[in-house]
Amino acid sequence: MEQTRTTPETFVGVGYTRDRAGLPLEAVRVPVPRPAADQVLIRVAASSLNPLEYKLADLNFMGRTPPVVLGFDLAGVVAGVGRDVDRVAVGDAVAAMADLNGDGGWAATGGGYAVARQFLTVRKPPSLGFRDAAALPMCFLSAFAGLYGSVRADDTVYIPGGGGGVGHLAVQLATRVLGARTVISSGGRPESIALARRSGAHEVFDYRRDDIAAEIAKLTGGRGADLVFDTTYSERSFAETARTVRRGGRWIVLGVGPGRTTRLAETHSPVAAILAERGAEQVIVNLLRYFSEPATLDGEARDFLQRGMDLAMEWAERGLVVPHVSRTIDSTVEAISAGLRSLKAGGRVLGKIAVIVDRDLAAGR
Ligand SMILES: NC(=O)c1ccc[n+]([C@@H]2O[C@H](COP(=O)([O-])OP(=O)(O)OC[C@H]3O[C@@H](n4cnc5c(N)ncnc54)[C@H](OP(=O)(O)O)[C@@H]3O)[C@@H](O)[C@H]2O)c1
Repeated sequence: MEQTRTTPETFVGVGYTRDRAGLPLEAVRVPVPRPAADQVLIRVAASSLNPLEYKLADLNFMGRTPPVVLGFDLAGVVAGVGRDVDRVAVGDAVAAMADLNGDGGWAATGGGYAVARQFLTVRKPPSLGFRDAAALPMCFLSAFAGLYGSVRADDTVYIPGGGGGVGHLAVQLATRVLGARTVISSGGRPESIALARRSGAHEVFDYRRDDIAAEIAKLTGGRGADLVFDTTYSERSFAETARTVRRGGRWIVLGVGPGRTTRLAETHSPVAAILAERGAEQVIVNLLRYFSEPATLDGEARDFLQRGMDLAMEWAERGLVVPHVSRTIDSTVEAISAGLRSLKAGGRVLGKIAVIVDRDLAAGR
């Protein structure tokens, strides 16, 4: 392993120290990880919050032995590389996603370190700051996995929740990159409706007020959307959006799928019956699958995610993908726990919450 000499032995991470401890998180001193052959050690400048992090603190569903340091989205500087790493080198500014069944890079004091697989690590263009780069990996890859190769140029696409972390990037991808003819979105607050519009959605409805299935029927001459990508993790949304897909269309859902969103118990979901009645296909897109079933990490899946990381940087540099950071917080136990509480409560966060892990490093480019 090639590694810089100044890397410390330990750092104070932010995460959970007991199985299913929930929020607030705790500070815990942990060893700086050593990169395996295909891993990159990153000195973390910035990160961002994802709902996955409070879910892991609540449920520890990856079965890890605590302490677990959270913070999977990473932007920073390469501090060491494993022997097989040739895509990046020590000193490079990078964006990366840590393994979702491993440790992340949130640090309470004095900077943090995390390892990421080389295929999930990409050089950061100088025009993209560390903060914005750190807002992309997990949410962008989720949008990419749901839409890339699925959206056709003439499609009418419905993406509910276009003010969400994944949702706003998915809308940008569908409109600005993949060229969908009509992109419809929704939100439950004026600010999330506005973000969906700014992200390029042609029509945005209020899911608390509008009869969106009727509106989409009107817009499509009664046919329905060719493709629906539901990233809301809401059973209520699933049942509603399944009714907007056209006969023979595709309903793509992010995560574990209908009836399973609590992760604790299966609940009855009408989605399968609604889709069957329309002859529509259900596709489940779940990034966690790659980490809970390592075999699926081989070949195609690995290349697909690596391509997603490369394109995230390329499209961000070209201004096609613009992460919306609505709040920037310091990497303290209190601030991160409060941010995760807002995400968990729903309806309080717009786009992304960024975390500045190392102020000096993050100020550079
Ligand atoms: N397994 C995976 O691969 C994977 C990967 C990434 C994310 N996820 C999961 O996907 C979910 C979304 O992640 P995120 O980061 O985008 O979260 P987020 O930023 O909290 O976004 C959630 C969005 O859903 C919208 N929403 C909620 N209920 C809705 C409804 N009934 N109809 C339409 N929209 C509704 C919200 O709109 P308003 O704010 O306007 O109410 C908000 O825009 C989370 O549960 C996350 O854990 C899974």
